[in-house]
Amino acid sequence: MAEPQIFPRFAGKTVLVTGAGTGFGAEIAYRAAQEGAKVAIHYRSSKAGAESTAARIAAIGGEAILVQGDIGSWAEITRMADEVWAAFGTLDVLVNNVGDVSSEQMSWTELTQESLDAVIDVDVKGTLLMTHVFGERMLEQPNGGNIVQVGSTVIVRGSPRAPQYAAAKYAILGITKSYAKVLAPKVRVNTFAPGFMETEKLLNRADWKAGRRETLIAQTPMGHISPPEFVAGACLWLATDEAAHLTGGYLLADGGFNMVGA
Ligand SMILES: NC(=O)c1ccc[n+]([C@@H]2O[C@H](COP(=O)([O-])OP(=O)(O)OC[C@H]3O[C@@H](n4cnc5c(N)ncnc54)[C@H](OP(=O)(O)O)[C@@H]3O)[C@@H](O)[C@H]2O)c1
Repeated sequence: MAEPQIFPRFAGKTVLVTGAGTGFGAEIAYRAAQEGAKVAIHYRSSKAGAESTAARIAAIGGEAILVQGDIGSWAEITRMADEVWAAFGTLDVLVNNVGDVSSEQMSWTELTQESLDAVIDVDVKGTLLMTHVFGERMLEQPNGGNIVQVGSTVIVRGSPRAPQYAAAKYAILGITKSYAKVLAPKVRVNTFAPGFMETEKLLNRADWKAGRRETLIAQTPMGHISPPEFVAGACLWLATDEAAHLTGGYLLADGGFNMVGA
């Protein structure tokens, strides 16, 4: 894998990344800072992780603030928006990366009421409310803004492991399209759908350790599983002017694994 080239696509911009104390969110936040953005690093419980993302950004001369909150709560989302606008005065890009993948569940037969409720609360209600509250404020800005949801290729194939996860990620397409319509033309809303990325969460999953990785690599035309930092730039591309005519869409980045359909 060649090292990605970094361009200052977000110089002078402000970017909030949710769930940026861990995994993919941390890499998106770091990449946004590498590309010149002032970054708001959101976390819920991973304070040390969020501080480590901020330290990585400071080490390259970037600027970051931390924002803590549970995206399952409308009141906390409103408070977080107040904090971001108080700190930055504006927000150009929101990346809704937070997601609950039910990673403890290895089969649809293990579904519980608790895991179903948790995934719907976080992935569906949380993403919708973040888009609603932040999108409404972006509409008031002279230059509007951009919202990128982190989906998953599970929307293409479904999930025999955790159907509630596939259902929730599919719901994100409905959220994306609805808000892309109501917030246009000032605010664009798109979904980025990565394939498997070797985040700590994935590396610790029982199925991943039991041979799933090798099977997937064999079925992936690009021949490898992406580390999260390798696709962070593609995710952020949706929020650049190069993607100015894209809204309500979704972009797959899965090494060609899901080449099905039109
Ligand atoms: N890894 C993959 O292979 C893969 C593939 C496709 C899509 N994705 C998507 O990529 C995103 C990140 O996944 P990841 O692998 O990086 O997993 P992860 O490390 O578990 O990230 C999940 C993040 O969500 C946050 N979170 C969970 N519930 C929350 C809540 N109620 N309020 C606020 N924050 C909450 C967590 O914050 P705290 O830790 O601070 O609590 C954590 O930072 C997810 O949307 C996932 O569906 C991942």
